[in-house]
Amino acid sequence: MIQFINEEVQQYLISKMSLNSDKLEELRLKSEIDNVPIIHKDVENFLKLLIKMKSMNSVLEIGAAVGYSALMFSEVIPNGKITTIERYEKMFIKANENILNFDKKEQIEIIFGNATDVLKNEIKGKYDLVFIDAAKSHYREFFELSLEHLNEGGIIVSDNVLFKGRIVNDKYVERRNKTITRNMRNYLEFINQSPYFSTILPIGDGLSITMIEEK
Ligand SMILES: C[S@@+](CC[C@H](N)C(=O)[O-])C[C@H]1O[C@@H](n2cnc3c(N)ncnc32)[C@H](O)[C@@H]1O
Repeated sequence: MIQFINEEVQQYLISKMSLNSDKLEELRLKSEIDNVPIIHKDVENFLKLLIKMKSMNSVLEIGAAVGYSALMFSEVIPNGKITTIERYEKMFIKANENILNFDKKEQIEIIFGNATDVLKNEIKGKYDLVFIDAAKSHYREFFELSLEHLNEGGIIVSDNVLFKGRIVNDKYVERRNKTITRNMRNYLEFINQSPYFSTILPIGDGLSITMIEEK
């Protein structure tokens, strides 16, 4: 697989990035040891910058896992609203425990279920940022369903869009990943041809950022 940024440079940059609360840093470490796929540190830092630059106050996240990124958002916007969706029961239970343990029950709403159904039927409010970090084959669906849940000037950020370089060249694509790769390529084509401006950054596993404003 492709390494987007030289490993030594990457480690250097990460070592200069701001830390979260000690408790959240412990959860990052634990998640990494347990192989829970949480956001990369450089993606985390970029999201923090975006939230601060745009004075965002609410985040809708698709894909909670153990709640790490939702808790990170809650530290960046202590008075803001965070809603996160998780369909895997084991992760949902773990995320709930972590949210309780961090005393963030009031601030973070976690909804159990398939994001497609939840976005259609349960999400009522509007958000400044939608963060898509779930089943890669469904990004377009998540994107389209999220549009009506965005405040004016809102932004949709999608993680893992370069799929460890598979997107770039078929020589990296194993048979079992062919469909996901095709769907992700279609997603990138879709956002680039949409009326909204998007860019893709080679950080983490590839991050797309789409401004929901006419180009
Ligand atoms: C990469 S992890 C999320 C990591 C989390 N955002 C973080 O950085 O701490 C992806 C999660 O999305 C969940 N997921 C995948 N497809 C989903 C769907 N259709 N609806 C809801 N959750 C989904 C998976 O069960 C998994 O826990």
